Amino acid sequence: MPRVLLTSPLPIEIGPLLDGHELVGGDRRLSRDELLGAVADADGLVCLIGDRIDDELLARAPRLRVVANYAVGLDNIDLAAAARRGVAVTHTPDVLTEATADLAFALLLAAARRVIEGDALVRGGGWTGWEPWQILGAEVHGATLAIVGMGRIGRAVARRARGFDMRVIGVTSREGSVDEVLPQADFVSIHCPLTAATRGLIDARRLALMKPTAVLVNTARGPIIDEDALVRALAAGRPAAAGLDVYAAEPQVPETLRRSPRVVLLPHLGSATVGARTRMAELCATGVRDVLAGRRPPNLVTNA
Ligand code: GLV
Repeated sequence: MPRVLLTSPLPIEIGPLLDGHELVGGDRRLSRDELLGAVADADGLVCLIGDRIDDELLARAPRLRVVANYAVGLDNIDLAAAARRGVAVTHTPDVLTEATADLAFALLLAAARRVIEGDALVRGGGWTGWEPWQILGAEVHGATLAIVGMGRIGRAVARRARGFDMRVIGVTSREGSVDEVLPQADFVSIHCPLTAATRGLIDARRLALMKPTAVLVNTARGPIIDEDALVRALAAGRPAAAGLDVYAAEPQVPETLRRSPRVVLLPHLGSATVGARTRMAELCATGVRDVLAGRRPPNLVTNA
């Protein structure tokens, strides 16, 4: 019976979706060292974005035929090494698109309208009544939103923005086009994958191109933004605010960001709905089952 190793508990039992397979792990989160040992006799692996699937790991997994990433992003996987070693990789596109777009919009609205600051005022007992100048935020309707990366999630954010009567400018992460839109945008939302080309895409120079009143939202991957540069830029007041779901070195979040009232911080919740996380588990099972049965899964990564 093929052995499938699971590096973490999932929100649903994946076992029934993998009958005819021996499921190993899944009762607790495996450390890197445990994973390096446990892959030795695995035919399939279901892993999280916190698991680095690199050549060192693949070298210890002579039987491995499929890695099913419980995520759409693939930056934790050395795709070239997997291809070299004949290991198929699957991911979880589509099923988390709408949930992630919803969360990007939640961050956009919360940062624009200073929801966290208002909540803190009420909870802290410091609210003394309606005041004309209390916690004034930015208008969302009618504003210009630049979406960097017009893939599945970027386009889903664009659809939501149109409902708010926003002007949407979608750009790819290519050099040049980003520079053109940043000075025009009231909101910038990042939706490209993390690759060698997009690492540090939003650097100090590009942050300085943004309007002083702008709001930056990131639900993609932390390293797409130069986080040190963002900390400095926010301190200097340009951009005015940010909504972040992802960070350069998760789960570490710079102290300055944690202290800043104008930054809304979430713990990488983009796909965190029961529906999305359930469908992600189902897709992982599909990927493993299909590859191990010699079929081509619908969610196979083909750009290795
Ligand atoms: C989560 O970040 C994902 O890539 O699915």
